[in-house]
Amino acid sequence: MSTTTTVTEQAAASVLPAQSKRMKVDGTDPKFGDWRDDLVRDGFAVVKNAVPRDRADKYADAMYGWLEGFGLGFDRNDLSTANKDHLPTINEKGMCLNYACTHEDFAWAVRSEPGVIDAFEKVYDDSDLIVSFDAINVTFPNRKDIAPNKPWPHQDQDPLKPGFRCLQGLVNLLPNGPDDGGLIVCRGGHALSEEFHKEFINEPRIPAWTPEWFGFTAEGMKWLEEKGCVWEKVCAEPGDLLLWDSRTPHYNLPSKTEQPRFAIYTCFMPVSHASQEDLVRKKHAFERWVGTTHWPNARHTGSNVAKRDGVEDPHNRFEPVTKPALSARAFKLTGIPYISA
Ligand SMILES: [Fe+2]
Repeated sequence: MSTTTTVTEQAAASVLPAQSKRMKVDGTDPKFGDWRDDLVRDGFAVVKNAVPRDRADKYADAMYGWLEGFGLGFDRNDLSTANKDHLPTINEKGMCLNYACTHEDFAWAVRSEPGVIDAFEKVYDDSDLIVSFDAINVTFPNRKDIAPNKPWPHQDQDPLKPGFRCLQGLVNLLPNGPDDGGLIVCRGGHALSEEFHKEFINEPRIPAWTPEWFGFTAEGMKWLEEKGCVWEKVCAEPGDLLLWDSRTPHYNLPSKTEQPRFAIYTCFMPVSHASQEDLVRKKHAFERWVGTTHWPNARHTGSNVAKRDGVEDPHNRFEPVTKPALSARAFKLTGIPYISA
């Protein structure tokens, strides 16, 4: 080792923060005595009451009001009105991606909930976080007017970039039992991810629009089963935060009951993982009231233009009906205060 290298390493060490306690989710984390142990062992966890029940109910009420506010005849008390003639465009997986919905006050209020932010701060051991402007989930049971929701088991992480990289989350806002549809995960699949991808490296990939998505084929599903992995529907009460490692295979199930499902996707990452370019792009997304994927660095941004019957929806909206009132803490989550002058 040269003297120059030694000096450089010493200089770098002197500016590094005290050793980070960021979770590794690889079996080497200490025991925490809470949901973090579940995350390490199973690749997913439920943070009970991350949002107090009264506020969760208020957010669900706001979402019903937002749907009724389109003036298309949807009535929360008459679920026969839960179809495309009376609703904004929502896909078969329950995703509502347009209409500036991700920036409605209720969505930002959920992202700003202290119990939600706290969970991600604990995992990343970092309070300088940014949040995704992801879809909201609005699923009504027994919809015959849209395509059936077929299983699409996947990981949201590039197999060529192994290790724990991203924690995904959603805040559940309505009762969500075993048959009510929603998130299903392959317990323990995160820990087998690297082994899986070594074995399947030459398997033709299911086409995806981003390398940060990997779909499991029937062969891949068989491999998981032979490893003893069990698929588990994650059940939750209003206000519970569901968390999963992006390596954990997952998808969402349709409902078999009469219970609607509302959820706000909430994914946070340390701002130090985003570049200045990312933050500027994220700022523009915020200012144009458009969405992102679950990745908070806004690598991909969306549009508020929904289609209805193949043409632009005349009910499109380009700004929230109720613009978000952001606290100073919430504003930091946009990433804007971290942009250098
Ligand atoms: Fe996913």
